[in-house]
Amino acid sequence: FQPKRLAGQRVLITAGPTFEAIDPVRGITNHSSGKMGFAIARAAQEAGAQVTLVAGPVHLPTPAHVRRIDVQSALQMHDAVMPLAAAHDVFIATAAVADWRPVAAAEQKLKKDGSGCPPAIEMVENPDILAAVARLPQRPYCVGFAAESHDLLRHAQDKRARKQVPLLVGNLGPATFGQDTNALLLVDEHGHRELPQADKLTLARQLVAEIATRLTPPTR
Ligand code: C5P
Repeated sequence: FQPKRLAGQRVLITAGPTFEAIDPVRGITNHSSGKMGFAIARAAQEAGAQVTLVAGPVHLPTPAHVRRIDVQSALQMHDAVMPLAAAHDVFIATAAVADWRPVAAAEQKLKKDGSGCPPAIEMVENPDILAAVARLPQRPYCVGFAAESHDLLRHAQDKRARKQVPLLVGNLGPATFGQDTNALLLVDEHGHRELPQADKLTLARQLVAEIATRLTPPTR
């Protein structure tokens, strides 16, 4: 028997990639499948939480009893998350948010003009949703993710400090995007520990249990 470790808690999760339009038929995105975020949404709901999942464009079914809000771009994800964040107890940012977006999407499809010169696409930085939530005066307990190709521990520690979040989770598995398994590196104020290779739902349940211990004040 597993106690409902997140009973009464409201958990907000971002998942998947974002899609930044260049014109009506093209855009910039990435290979995030959303599987880890959706698994965490399911695990949090099973643990008794009320879960809101803000999802970029993914091909995944909504976990049972989870409220899902679909978005495309980073700005839309930001605008969906910010008004909800203060009313949640936990915010878990698993989304692979695009760092930049085209300044403006062209209204019509960009066409080759025969000159051989490709169009210049001017980019602007997207807001950092996790850092913005972590700066709210009434902030939920914030959990960030990091996907890195090298020096994961150092980058995860840097990211935790830069974004001012208590828990930062690194993806240890090589090329975890789209895979069904992963391994995680948890970095908090005490140091770091590993959750070894397992399927994403198993890891999601372990992570939810770890988060729950950080929310519950000691009983003695
Ligand atoms: O800075 P970087 O993208 O590596 O940080 C990753 C973490 O920050 C993830 O938790 C991701 O969901 C979050 N993030 C965000 N908004 C952004 C960029 C990243 O919430 N614009």
